[in-house]
Amino acid sequence: MSSHGDPQPMEAARGGPLRGTAEVPGDKSVSHRSLILGALSVGETKITGLLEGQDVLDTAKAMRAFGAEVTRHGAGAWSVHGVGVGGFAEPGNVIDCGNSGTGVRLIMGAMATTPIAATFTGDASLNGRPMARVTDPLALFGARAYGRAGGRLPMTILGAAEPVPVRYATPVPSAQVKSAVLLAGLNAPGKTVVIEAEATRDHTERMLKGFGAEIVTEVTPEGRVITLTGQPELVAQTIAVPRDPSSAAFPVCAALITEGSDVLVPGIGLNPTRAGLFTTLIEMGADLTLENEREEGGEPVADLRARFSPDMRGVEVPPERAASMIDEYPILSVVAANATGRTEMRGVKELRVKESDRIAAMATGLRACGVTVEEGEDWWIVEGRGAGGVPGGASATTHLDHRIAMSFLCLGLSTGKPVGIDDAGPIATSFPIFLDLMAELGAGFRVVAR
Ligand code: S3P
Repeated sequence: MSSHGDPQPMEAARGGPLRGTAEVPGDKSVSHRSLILGALSVGETKITGLLEGQDVLDTAKAMRAFGAEVTRHGAGAWSVHGVGVGGFAEPGNVIDCGNSGTGVRLIMGAMATTPIAATFTGDASLNGRPMARVTDPLALFGARAYGRAGGRLPMTILGAAEPVPVRYATPVPSAQVKSAVLLAGLNAPGKTVVIEAEATRDHTERMLKGFGAEIVTEVTPEGRVITLTGQPELVAQTIAVPRDPSSAAFPVCAALITEGSDVLVPGIGLNPTRAGLFTTLIEMGADLTLENEREEGGEPVADLRARFSPDMRGVEVPPERAASMIDEYPILSVVAANATGRTEMRGVKELRVKESDRIAAMATGLRACGVTVEEGEDWWIVEGRGAGGVPGGASATTHLDHRIAMSFLCLGLSTGKPVGIDDAGPIATSFPIFLDLMAELGAGFRVVAR
């Protein structure tokens, strides 16, 4: 099932090379945060390059429901008139975050220290995902959560009337949990501290600093200790959203496995907390270069150039790299299937609670396409079949997961027989122009009649 409308089956087949320039949209993580921090600041935040995927549109709608004025001026150009820290109004209706774990978890944090009630829901994927990882620390501030069994949505949060600051060590490596705690800490007096054993994406910290909050990160033997001073006045900003490395991963990896390809993906955000895939691909022997490295809007950016790479080798991806490429394992497994030797991915338990169980979804589809995959609770191993060596000839189930859908379409560009997916609809959550962009590069994707 697609998140919006009927399922849209598609198929990808081996064809000509991919060539040209792929301008991928704005970063999803930065886009959500721009809207939420814009809504919590005073004045008008101007955003360019905002990702107009469904996940972010759902967050924009939610910010309106909490009282911010959110306006679209043109493609990717948005403004937010914020209500200030502690200024959220009680929404008049249920907040539907669609498919977005980031949206719901960050917004829960942002409202949890304001004395209002809000009820959250999502699609079948989101309503199956764990929320206790966020509501547990929010309870320490004084917020209350009433959800379904297992801490699932739909769920009502009662924000704390007299919030207290919190010191919290995140039990799972999650930027969403860290961000929810920091956003809740904004309206608590005193210092809120989050400790993370492993570095996860730090867009919230960078952006909070940009909006004028006092926030300090120290690297200590216990991990990264992030201290936020509560009740700042956040001042509206002008934000240029960098292009999304997690979206860039698809045309880059498709080019690496498709004979004769040469693709340029310009202006990609390469924050080190996000760039682990590119390190891994280079270790595998990919012909991938970073050109024109520069800084834009406080984030490192480069142009990526990927060429067909027939001699890639399997590697062991170290667990400590997992957080910096957590969304890229599905497409990495597609590249691994086209490499020689085994690719071992360990320390990736979190993949089991994404938009789908991504280890299970990829392993099932890859096996159906003739690839040997072993898996355990927090690891999986893909046996490479060499460039162009995957038989294909199967259809994968995407489980409402955009990255599973895009990964199998990319795989189909390299396989002996076409690869199908049951539903391309979810792709619109993060990369609404994916199908057009890939078609322009020369990808042989086609809609399959239902
Ligand atoms: C995100 C954090 C990650 C990632 C998600 C976006 C964010 O989730 O998978 O796509 O913007 O903070 P976790 O925090 O669950 O690791």
